[in-house]
Amino acid sequence: MYDLCFAPGRTVLSSYRLRDDVPPVPELCRVARDETGILGGAIRYWPVRIGHWQALLLGPVAVHPTAQGEGLGAALIRDTIERARALEWARVILVGDEPYYRRFGFFKLDQIVMPPPTNPERVLGYALTPGAWEGVAGEVTRHS
Ligand SMILES: CC(C)(COP(=O)(O)OP(=O)(O)OC[C@H]1O[C@@H](n2cnc3c(N)ncnc32)[C@H](O)[C@@H]1OP(=O)(O)O)[C@@H](O)C(=O)NCCC(=O)NCCS
Repeated sequence: MYDLCFAPGRTVLSSYRLRDDVPPVPELCRVARDETGILGGAIRYWPVRIGHWQALLLGPVAVHPTAQGEGLGAALIRDTIERARALEWARVILVGDEPYYRRFGFFKLDQIVMPPPTNPERVLGYALTPGAWEGVAGEVTRHS
């Protein structure tokens, strides 16, 4: 699914270095299937660190090209955000298109530095608890 939905070379992106040798968060790795069991979309999350803070790195999220624009991506994101909140995570970070993610409440993070090469305009955050990003600053590093 991911190879189909993303350009070749996706694994050279900085987000992938934060995932190397780190298990994803199993409760937040979800797939969407239709009534016949065919895969329509997938989402995964990894834990990361920003100084002494912890965050969830959202992604990759992808919806099969034949099913895009039908709300599946939004359903996967909303479902897992609620699950993350129930699991008492405080904050989510991702690298993505602000015009898409702002509908869920994501906003640009100005004080957070992703490993290069990352366009800072694409570094977005979501607060699972009120004020969860207040005062959080620094480099995003791999969860050890
Ligand atoms: C991005 C993606 C996960 C969205 O899933 P989806 O099920 O197609 O999206 P939804 O049906 O929930 O939402 C569709 C809406 O999002 C908009 N949208 C989709 N991708 C967008 C983007 N990159 N930027 C801005 N808007 C976007 C669509 O135009 C549509 O808008 P509308 O509601 O005004 O018609 C899916 O298109 C995909 O897999 N894309 C390729 C992989 C990818 O880019 N993943 C995200 C990496 S950051």
